[in-house]
Amino acid sequence: MGLLDRHAELLGEYRGVQTEGADPFHIRMDRILSPTEAIINGRRTLMVGTNNYFGLTFDPTCMDAAIDAIRSEGTGTTGSRIANGSYSQHVLLEKELAEFYDKKHCMVFTTGYQANLGIISTLVSQGDYLLIDADSHASIYDACKLTQAEMIRFKHNDPSSLDARLRRLGDKPGNRLVVLEGVYSMLGDSAPLKEFVAVCKKYGAYIVVDEAHSLGALGANGRGLCEEVGVLDDVHFIVGTFSKTLGAVGGYCVSNDPDFEILRLVTRSYMFTASLPPSIAASVRQALRIVRARPELRQQLWNNVATLYDGLAERGFILGPEHGPVVGVHLSDRLLAIRFWRALLDAGIYVNVAVPPATPNGVSLLRCSICAVHTKQQLERMIEVMTGIGLQMGVISGAPKLRVVAGAR
Ligand SMILES: Cc1ncc(COP(=O)(O)O)c(C=O)c1O
Repeated sequence: MGLLDRHAELLGEYRGVQTEGADPFHIRMDRILSPTEAIINGRRTLMVGTNNYFGLTFDPTCMDAAIDAIRSEGTGTTGSRIANGSYSQHVLLEKELAEFYDKKHCMVFTTGYQANLGIISTLVSQGDYLLIDADSHASIYDACKLTQAEMIRFKHNDPSSLDARLRRLGDKPGNRLVVLEGVYSMLGDSAPLKEFVAVCKKYGAYIVVDEAHSLGALGANGRGLCEEVGVLDDVHFIVGTFSKTLGAVGGYCVSNDPDFEILRLVTRSYMFTASLPPSIAASVRQALRIVRARPELRQQLWNNVATLYDGLAERGFILGPEHGPVVGVHLSDRLLAIRFWRALLDAGIYVNVAVPPATPNGVSLLRCSICAVHTKQQLERMIEVMTGIGLQMGVISGAPKLRVVAGAR
């Protein structure tokens, strides 16, 4: 048996997709024009699948900060911080992130994936219990594979399901660590965090919250869902990424745990990989200043979310359960999702297509992510184009529907 034979079924499906003339996994952006537009296949394309929630990738002050750091500290660190040392940009970024969250400690990672992988797998070990939401991101699932703690899944966004699992553990020895996400990356729904915190307190469980999709978008100061619902002091570890609202790459963890600093000497995804290039750390620092100084970007983001979500819901599309910076459009199967995605691209609109096994409950989705700097006209055009394709493909029918949106902001 060949080494790759076990992927034969997937390969067959993938070839089928390619013969449809659609290959969502090898898109080439010929030129990036702005946070909301690129040239793809020679065509000017509206970008609605970038996670670039504040549109900071082209912010001139972030770009200048990165360029200045390249000139003063070089293009890369060529090693990990425990081997090659910390650059001033790493130290300043950690200090500023800790201040932003009003926490004592911060560690930055080279990606958000590595932050989850390292922090979650290191906090628990044999004899402990790791309780995760069924819809958790791949980085959280992968962290579970790296630890000898027992992994227990509870129903998505269901505090009573978590309660039942913690109760079942009774007085077995071992720590309990619960991992939640502020906003879930496929459907854009947010965790009922207050209720989860109450359950965790009842059983003495520790909590990690991944604010990847909620940093900037939620909370009076943009600190995410923990700030929005007032549980910043009840959560033991917050992790997140620089690759979305902050427009770069990298990850972080903040905490008030007095022994936090030991994590630098035991977290393998921190210790055995090269640290962030100083230019990235510098642009992230500037992006963080913008998040703090320009709350109007958060308001613009939510206005745009309402425009797209409500517009699509009124046309009859089936969407994720609530307004969120990610709007997931349900389609009945994988092939339909890929065909719809291709038709949108041909019409000059780029979204993500998300199909099993990457999606919760085997759903097929067009995953749209909203940017504060999308214009109303851009989003209205998108609604019209999606409506045309949806009617043509029988995804929606002609009569507009008015839906009451539960939990809409
Ligand atoms: C919830 C969640 N956590 C972590 C990550 C990983 O972040 P990064 O892209 O910085 O590795 C992602 C990225 O998609 C995510 O959606």
